[in-house]
Amino acid sequence: MTRIAVIPGDGIGPEVVEQAVMTLDAFGLGLDFDHLDHVNAGTYLRTGVALCDEDVARVAASRSALLGAIGDPRVASPAYGRGVLLRLRFELDLYVNHRPARLLSDRLSPLRPDRPRAVDCVVIRENTEGLYTGMGGALRAGGEHEIALDIDLSTHRGTSRVVEHAFTIARREVCMVDKANAVEHGGSLWQRCWRAAAARHPDVAARHLYVDAAAMRMVTDPTGFDVVVTNNSYGDILSDVASAVAGGIGTAASANLNPERGFGLYEPVHGSAPDIAGTRAANPVGAILSAGLLLADLGHTAEAAALRNAVDLAVADGETTPDLGGSLDTGKAGQAVRARL
Ligand code: NAD
Ligand code: IPM
Ligand code: MN
Repeated sequence: MTRIAVIPGDGIGPEVVEQAVMTLDAFGLGLDFDHLDHVNAGTYLRTGVALCDEDVARVAASRSALLGAIGDPRVASPAYGRGVLLRLRFELDLYVNHRPARLLSDRLSPLRPDRPRAVDCVVIRENTEGLYTGMGGALRAGGEHEIALDIDLSTHRGTSRVVEHAFTIARREVCMVDKANAVEHGGSLWQRCWRAAAARHPDVAARHLYVDAAAMRMVTDPTGFDVVVTNNSYGDILSDVASAVAGGIGTAASANLNPERGFGLYEPVHGSAPDIAGTRAANPVGAILSAGLLLADLGHTAEAAALRNAVDLAVADGETTPDLGGSLDTGKAGQAVRARL
C-alpha cells in the first residue's frame, strides 16, 4: 500500500481535498490515505499547536502528502501558518515549489483574444529560504521608533539547487527572476548561480527578468514563459499572477518537492477562501490537478495524463463551479471530472 498523508486544513480546504481524494480513488491504485483531520485552526485556537512532532513524523513516513489550505480569519498570527505549512516545507526540506499554469480553456483567458493565449508555464519557487525563515527581529518594538527586520536569506546551496532543478525540468527556457538591480547581495548570488546552471545546460535557453518586468510580462505575454525560477516571495506572487492568466486561482496546482528524496507535498495554490467556505462554491480543480501532480511523481503517468485530460474536458463542457462561469457545486464539479476519466 502506498500511504498518502492528507491534511484537509481550513475553509474550503476540506471541501476541495475530498474531491481530490475521490478522484485519486477512482484510479483504483490501492492508495492508502492517512487523514490528519485535526491539523486546522480549531486545534490551533484550542491548544496553541496545530501540527505536533508526531504529525510531522506521520507526514514524513508517508509516500506523499496532500494538503487543502491553511488559514482562518480567527487567527491573525502568522505563527499558525508558519507552524503548519512552512514547518512542513522547511523540516521536510521541500525546497522546490513547483507551480504549473496551463490555460484550461480559451474562454477562461482574461487576455485579449487577438493575442496568442496558450499559457503553459511552471513557476519554480524557492521554498525554504528568502523572507520566510523567520530570521530577523524588532528593535524598540511597540514604540514609534520601532525597526522591524525580516532577513531575506539566500544561501549558495539553496539557490543553486533550485536553479539547477529549473534547468532539469525546462522544455526550452529558464527565466530567472530577481531584483538584482536593487537587492545587492542576494541579487548577485542568484545571478551567479543562474549563470553557472545555464553554462551546465547549454541546450536550454536562459533568460533573465527583474521581478517588476516579469510581473508585467506575465500579464501581457504569459505565453512566452516556459520555466520561471525565483525566490520564495517573488514566486508566491508570480504564481498567483500565472494562475490568473491560466484560468483562475481555483484551478492552480502545486507541488512542494525535494527531488533528491522523491517526497512531495501537493496542494492547490489557493488558500482557505473564507469568503466562500461552506457555500459549496469552491472549485476543486486546483486540488484535483495537485493530486494529478502527485500521481505523475509516483510514476502513474498515464493516470496523471487522464486526470488532466478529464479536467480539460469538464472545463470545456462548462461543467464547472461559478468562478469559471459554470453552475455546479464543488462535489458535482469533482464528479464531472471523474465522469470523464
Ligand atoms: P485565497 O486563495 O483563500 O482567496 C482569494 C480569492 O480567491 C477569494 O476571493 C476566494 O474566494 C477565491 N478562491 C480561492 N480558491 C478558490 C477556489 N478553489 N474556488 C473558487 N474561488 C476560490 O486567498 P486569501 O483570501 O488571501 O487567504 C485566505 C486564507 O488562506 C488566509 O488565512 C491565508 O493565509 C490562507 N492561505 C493559505 C494558503 C495555503 O494553505 N497554501 C495559500 C494562500 C492563502
Ligand atoms: C502559498 C501561501 C503561503 C505562502 C502562505 C499561506 C504562508 O500564500 O502557499 O502560496 O506564502 O507560501
Ligand atoms: Mn500564495
